[in-house]
Order: sequence, then structure tokens, then C-alpha cells
Amino acid sequence: MAALRWSVRSTMEPGAIVEVFVVHSDNLVEEADALLPALSPAEAERAARYRRSEDRSRFIIGRGLLRRLLGDRLAVAPRSLPIEAGPFGKPALAGGPGFNVSHSGRWIAIAIGDREVGIDIEERIALDPLPLAALSPEEQARVRRAADPLDAFLSIWVAKEAVLKADGRGLGGGTTPFTVPPDRMGRPHLVRTEGGRVAGIGVATLDLPPGVHGAVAARGDAWTLDTFLGTADECLAHGRRAVRGRARSDLCLEVF
Ligand SMILES: CC(C)(COP(=O)(O)OP(=O)(O)OC[C@H]1O[C@@H](n2cnc3c(N)ncnc32)[C@H](O)[C@@H]1OP(=O)(O)O)[C@@H](O)C(=O)NCCC(=O)NCCS
Repeated sequence: MAALRWSVRSTMEPGAIVEVFVVHSDNLVEEADALLPALSPAEAERAARYRRSEDRSRFIIGRGLLRRLLGDRLAVAPRSLPIEAGPFGKPALAGGPGFNVSHSGRWIAIAIGDREVGIDIEERIALDPLPLAALSPEEQARVRRAADPLDAFLSIWVAKEAVLKADGRGLGGGTTPFTVPPDRMGRPHLVRTEGGRVAGIGVATLDLPPGVHGAVAARGDAWTLDTFLGTADECLAHGRRAVRGRARSDLCLEVF
């Protein structure tokens, strides 16, 4: 899939940028071998415990690429970044930027921002029947009206999961008490809800090739989405170019 490579900055407003890096790998094991040295000792132990080689490789690529992207922007050795899981399992870096990782099949997606972010990516899979009960009534109606209900379901689903991952509780936060807006391609739109923790979270659909769905979410809707799709090495080069264009003082982290 060497042709899969682009970068989209979808709005021109000044302000916060949520950067998204998407990797499609035809050779998960080879990419994982290259990124393994970036993992912390505890993560390398976790990687070794995966029984399925695909799961192990996806974890190593996601965590290894994340550490290298963060290491470049914070000028810290990737494996020494103190990434810790929060109460619901969301990895975070105290005092550092917000980030989140998702993987599905041969796809790995990473979001990095100046605030809490959530990302979800899903390869199209057959779902019969569609688990409509996981959606709000308005979302269910949207799926029923759609020409391609599976496509409509998956695009709503990734948006909901991204919102719940930005919130930090994951699916334990409940998928039905809020509605993701339609037409979110490339620009953040706030979720609709009667209140609760996801109120005020904005979500945007990622512009991805057919057969894969993705969405990214972050607090508010005053942020710009910058999406890059390429190999892990191309993502690192793109990340370094973006860092060079920014003041380092914005991006400092104290490591104890
Ligand atoms: C997070 C969750 C939505 C992942 O769903 P998924 O579609 O299977 O997986 P994805 O590939 O999209 O995301 C996995 C990544 O999300 C991140 N993650 C884990 N927990 C998270 C959370 N609560 N919020 C946000 N992100 C989380 C991790 O980086 C994980 O990748 P890693 O295991 O390689 O580090 C799901 O596992 C969940 O809801 N977890 C929370 C469970 C919970 O409530 N636990 C109670 C604490 S004991």
C-alpha cells in the first residue's frame, strides 16, 4: 500500500491542532521489530505476553510509534517517557500532551493534542444484525435511513468510541446517553447530550480510504485536525517537521 500517503489540514482557523498519524502496514512484524526498542521494559514484557503475533505487533507499533513521536517533540528518550494508565486504563503522560491510540486489522492510528484526545479506527467488518441498541434513538434512525446501513453504523460507532476514549472512561462511559452529529468529516462538531461528562466534547471523522472508518475527539470544537497517513517512518518525519514549526517552549515536559 505504498500509495497510501497524504496529509490533510482541514481548517484554517488559528488555535489548537489535534494531530493524527495513521499507519497501514502490510508487514506488521517487520514494522514492530523496528519499533520495539522504543518501548519501556514493562511494555516489552507486555508485548511478549501476547499470544497472537498480530496483536503483539499492533501493540508494539502503536506504543512504539507513539513514544517516538512524543520523544521527538519533548526531546526525551522515547523509552524513558513515564506513560502510565489512568483509572479506566487510558495511558497518559503527567504534564505532557494528550494522546490516544487505536488499532484494527492492519491499521494503527495515533492522536496527539494539547488536551485530552480520543481516537478510534475500525476496518469494515460484517455485522449481522447491526447492534443498533448501542446507539441513541436518533443515531438508530440515521442508520435505518442510510443507503448503506453498515457503513452508517460504523461511522457513528467510531465517533462514539472516540468520544468515550477522549473522556477517558472508554465504553464503560455508556454509548447511548449522547448523540454524535452527522457530517463531521474533517471538522469537529460537538456531541449532543443532556449533560454528563461527554458534554462539550467535539468529534471529527477522519478522511480514510474505503473500507476503514475512523474518528477523533477532543474537548471543545475550536481545534484543527491535521491528519497524516503513511508508513511509521513517514509519520515520524512528518511529526518532526511539525515540531520544527512550533515553539519548543509550548512542548516541554518535566521527567522525574
Ligand atoms: C478503550 C476501549 C474503548 C478500547 O477499545 P478497542 O476498540 O478494543 O481498542 P482500540 O484499539 O480502539 O484502543 C485500544 C487503546 O486504547 C487505549 N485505552 C485503553 N483504555 C482506555 C480508556 N479508558 N480510554 C481511552 N483510551 C484507552 C490504549 O492505548 C489501548 O491501546 P494499547 O492497549 O495498545 O495501549 C475499551 O477497551 C474500553 O472501553 N476500555 C475501558 C474498560 C474499562 O472501563 N475498564 C475499567 C478499568 S478497570
